[in-house]
Amino acid sequence: MPETETIHIDSLAYGGWGVGRINSKVVFVGYAVPGDVLKIEISDEHKNYAFGRIVEITEPSPKRIKAVCPHFGVCGGCGYLNMPYEEEIYWKTEIFKNEFKKNFTPIEIKISSAGEDYLNYRQKIGLKIYPPHIGFYKKLTHRVTDIEYCYLAKESINGMLKELRSLLSKKPWKDAVLNSLSSITLTDAGLKNIIFGVKNNPPELNNFSKEVMKSKTADNIFFEFPDKKIVTAQNTLKRSNDYFTVKDKKFSYDLPTFIQVNKKQNENIINAVTEYLKNITAQTGHNFLNALDLYCGYGNITLFLSRFAANITGVESSGFSVKLGEKNLALNGIDNIKFIKSDVADFVSAANIKRNKKTYDLLVLDPPRAGVKGLVPKIAELCPEYVIYVSCDTMTLLRDLKVFVETGYIVEKINLVDMFPRTFHLEHIAFLKMSPNK
Ligand SMILES: C[S@@+](CC[C@H](N)C(=O)[O-])C[C@H]1O[C@@H](n2cnc3c(N)ncnc32)[C@H](O)[C@@H]1O
Repeated sequence: MPETETIHIDSLAYGGWGVGRINSKVVFVGYAVPGDVLKIEISDEHKNYAFGRIVEITEPSPKRIKAVCPHFGVCGGCGYLNMPYEEEIYWKTEIFKNEFKKNFTPIEIKISSAGEDYLNYRQKIGLKIYPPHIGFYKKLTHRVTDIEYCYLAKESINGMLKELRSLLSKKPWKDAVLNSLSSITLTDAGLKNIIFGVKNNPPELNNFSKEVMKSKTADNIFFEFPDKKIVTAQNTLKRSNDYFTVKDKKFSYDLPTFIQVNKKQNENIINAVTEYLKNITAQTGHNFLNALDLYCGYGNITLFLSRFAANITGVESSGFSVKLGEKNLALNGIDNIKFIKSDVADFVSAANIKRNKKTYDLLVLDPPRAGVKGLVPKIAELCPEYVIYVSCDTMTLLRDLKVFVETGYIVEKINLVDMFPRTFHLEHIAFLKMSPNK
């Protein structure tokens, strides 16, 4: 029997860890709820802090509830299914404010809760394959736990998963197909797309894809190879003229590109950005001249900048996304946006060289989780008066904001958007203004 210790959980910390103390040392405990009294074993000890694992819940917190999902505690996806959603919203805001005040003076921080829609919201899930397992990584490991139904995914996506599992269990491809895959991504933002992460490409995979299309489980199937090359599975591209809507805009989604996972909360990001721009342009009495949207994807945010700026440039490295972005401009009859396929670092370096020819007065950036480490000074050299930084990672956002402040920007306010309910992840929108002294 491992040695156990008793701990009282007082709060939650970044990453969703319950926090308590043993002999004044801070201990982080997974799946703990503030108010719990627990018997834990120490799993990882450091000089000033330790990590612990729950052995027994001696006195459950009055806030503790039974998790709706049988995989909770094993699957690495959800962290907060054991507390009411309002509690999660409270702690997400507190955790962010605590992290923020470590380096910045407090400012207005608001959160958009998902309200009633805190389950079955994901329009995209990425499943890992480790034959015979199809599921998600177990918490903090690369071992796959089988998932039959994901409570975060839309019902239609769970339907796709069920159908795929049933088709995969059939001969003649049963083992060959599963052994040839590393992942399966399922999306439904209006069109049902499947992206098979392919390790090798046996003939059975093509036959299986035809069977999937015949069963109407998907509208489109793509294969993504280890070198990240994506191809359309033979003869499967369907309904490429369909579109989905975000607020009043139409978006085509027939190619495998990045997509915000939560439709309703994506609209809240757009609302926050457009509300802010409406106020600024009302205050100044004029629109922006040149806006730049870095990491623009297929134009999810870019298209909404159209009515606030004379000219807008969207920069994106994925050719698929740029192609879709152009299609989306045509769908919406927008003619003041130009998409450029480029790495952001290359684009910003080139823009700095040509700076006297063209300046940007508004800059939006929405980078991947890793943020823009090292690039901030170059972005700041473009001297946009306003910067809107959309980020899905608290730590990289705060790291980058520190550099923005050092280079002459003021963080005016931050909106948190609970894009990923029941997990510790959050979406953030930071609104920055150039300091009068810059
Ligand atoms: C978080 S997504 C945001 C996309 C878009 N703003 C939206 O709301 O859908 C980040 C985007 O950056 C693109 N990207 C990643 N690395 C990049 C790079 N180095 N240069 C340009 N684009 C990049 C990805 O393809 C992806 O479309």
